[in-house]
Amino acid sequence: MEIERLIAEMTLEEKASLLSGADFWNTKGVERLGIPQVMVSDGPHGLRKQDTEGDHLGINDSIKAVCFPAACASAASFDREVLRQIGESVGDACQHENLSVILGPAVNIKRSPLCGRNFEYFSEDPYLTGELAASLIEGVQSRNIGTSIKHFAANSQEHRRMSSDSIMDERTLREIYLPAFETAVKKTQPWTVMCSYNKVNGEFASQNEWLLTEVLRREWGFEGFVVSDWGAVSDRVKGVAAGLDLEMPGSGGSNDRRIVEAVKKGELSEEAVDESVRRILRIIDRYLANRKPDTPWDMEAQHVLARKLAGECMVLLKNEDQILPLKQEEKVAVIGRFAAAPRYQGGGSSHINSFRVDSLMDALKDNPNVLYAQGYDIQGEEPDEELISLAEEAAGKADKAVIVAGLPDSFESEGYDRSHMRIPRCQEVLIRRVAKVNPDTVVVLYNGSPVEMPWIGDVKGLIEAYLGGQAAGSATKDVLWGDVAPSGRLPESFPLKLEHNPSYLSYGGEGNKAVYTEGIFVGYRYYDKKKMDVLFPFGYGLSYTTFAYENLKVEPECAKDTDTVRISVEVTNTGACAGKEVVQLYVKNPKDSRVFRPVRELRGIEKIFLQPGETKQVSFTLDSRAFAYWNESLHDWYVEDGVYDIEIGKSSRDIVLGRSIKMEGTKALPAEPVTVNTIFMDLEERPEVLKVIQPMIEEVMGGLFGSGKEKGEEKKTDMQEEAVSDEMGNAMLRYLPLRGMVSFSGGKLGYDELAEMLKKL
Ligand code: BGC
Repeated sequence: MEIERLIAEMTLEEKASLLSGADFWNTKGVERLGIPQVMVSDGPHGLRKQDTEGDHLGINDSIKAVCFPAACASAASFDREVLRQIGESVGDACQHENLSVILGPAVNIKRSPLCGRNFEYFSEDPYLTGELAASLIEGVQSRNIGTSIKHFAANSQEHRRMSSDSIMDERTLREIYLPAFETAVKKTQPWTVMCSYNKVNGEFASQNEWLLTEVLRREWGFEGFVVSDWGAVSDRVKGVAAGLDLEMPGSGGSNDRRIVEAVKKGELSEEAVDESVRRILRIIDRYLANRKPDTPWDMEAQHVLARKLAGECMVLLKNEDQILPLKQEEKVAVIGRFAAAPRYQGGGSSHINSFRVDSLMDALKDNPNVLYAQGYDIQGEEPDEELISLAEEAAGKADKAVIVAGLPDSFESEGYDRSHMRIPRCQEVLIRRVAKVNPDTVVVLYNGSPVEMPWIGDVKGLIEAYLGGQAAGSATKDVLWGDVAPSGRLPESFPLKLEHNPSYLSYGGEGNKAVYTEGIFVGYRYYDKKKMDVLFPFGYGLSYTTFAYENLKVEPECAKDTDTVRISVEVTNTGACAGKEVVQLYVKNPKDSRVFRPVRELRGIEKIFLQPGETKQVSFTLDSRAFAYWNESLHDWYVEDGVYDIEIGKSSRDIVLGRSIKMEGTKALPAEPVTVNTIFMDLEERPEVLKVIQPMIEEVMGGLFGSGKEKGEEKKTDMQEEAVSDEMGNAMLRYLPLRGMVSFSGGKLGYDELAEMLKKL
């Protein structure tokens, strides 16, 4: 496509028309210039291609496709390779189906377990989210299909999702809510970015110039186009100027006309319109130039892959008395409707029309030692006595019981948030009653977000299977019966109860104002800092085998923030079966930091496969970002001098090895101007200033506290001695503003005199 020639030949009306969709899923074309329409589709753990009537809520049908594990599950793999393989498969399917862009991954941070869309998001941790999203994007784009990383930005609730304003300080935005986008953009150049519905600090994301142009393009170097979330546009003209290129699904032409008028009136530059057209055409051209509609889409093969990947995502959370894996000869009562009709994906725009679904019971059809009881109705809330009695009966006859429980579709979905963290009462009661009959009970959970588990003490085993895609049922069998050793890790903390979550007091907001009061202390950053007990910590997960760590090496031991730090550690499989281990690297921040910092933050992950007895060395490299915080006066990343620890952990709460590293920052912070309100303490590290005012301090303040008693002064009573100890005197002096010299000098120094001298500084 000769893009510049086309732009030159286009009328203003034609250009404006290209900036919105033709319908729900297609861009517009310009027939006379040979510019075709291209189609996009929801996903990203499969295709939701709608051939007939389009909608963005998952209401109308889409074509049959393969549903891979949803992001809540794939994140638990802690494995870039899993995401890459999902991406490649989806990319192939897109080529086959003539789709140019898949609308994902969704990388919003899990601020609260209540967010209705958590099942579509990866984690509470920005590093993990960014790494996994980047791999998915690499996978899709390796097939010359575009991605649309979404929802940019700070879209962590569904409540009032099209009007709420996410209000937070600069540091929180930079350290928690933006980095996943930043990582993905810098590493992989997603073809498109989808802006979110909400406002960010007072301005809709769809017309937020700071977000779409200043940060995304100028700072991070994004080269693709920005598309609106479906219906996210408020002021289209402002949006074009801010950097929103494509409006979807469109406005029936009315916003196109407003763009034309604004240009004619001189309110919007034609260059801005040209630039958006250019960005959109570049992506369309890239897709057209690399189309491969004859790419095979082997759904059967993808189903086999979906099963394998789902197995990699399951997290073993409890395994008392090694109750798992189950043995072929054991009689097992499988209980719970989800065992026959699994919940394996979430509701809304990411909903895939699976060409096949495996249930656990399907996968067990050849096992003569398995009994089944329904246990509950999926839509039910109150216990059904008859169903529970039948379940008890089955459990009584078996060696072990497996209860498949979880959240029904109606409990969590795009479009609204949860109001509590419990599974339906009928399931809780079932778990307790069955465990009473058979103490060897295991629970498998199908859910998109953490739940409270008041029954956890009653059961011996627990697998968090999340929403594992269409092959979740057979993958559950693989893990339960030990064909696959579980290797998932929790990508989010499971609090003991909802009220412990750091956003509990302000989540959802008041009216349209959602103030992120907990700041950077999201998830484990909060629980670890508060030393709070959690049900299961971030990064936690067991295996059927065991691993030992040794020989942690960190080089150099003293580094500048411009250096690369190299780390290696040896991991050995010390158990009896083969398995995968997730090596987690955390950086522990200095204790004496001047700013509030989390205890530790995840800065590296590697997943490795080890045969029994096998040892592998795992290496990481860290740059300054692993040690930095966002400094609000610098408006940049800043590494504080100090001693940090490089830690290898099995979770954020279980650090197995650690080594200190001394870091030296090379960036200078801007010096605050010295005024009459500057306190003495803040001058302690500014010798150039102190030198100038020291004589004045001596003269004026010398006699004020403790040591410098004036001659002839009365001896202090015991009471006075106590009232003004040296410690207290020093503290009072340190917190005193310079103007205090005027107040307490007994007339030796005047205000004007002080101000005059400070001006000279
Ligand atoms: C969702 C997006 C989705 C779009 C198109 C919106 O409601 O927020 O994630 O891609 O619809 O279906």
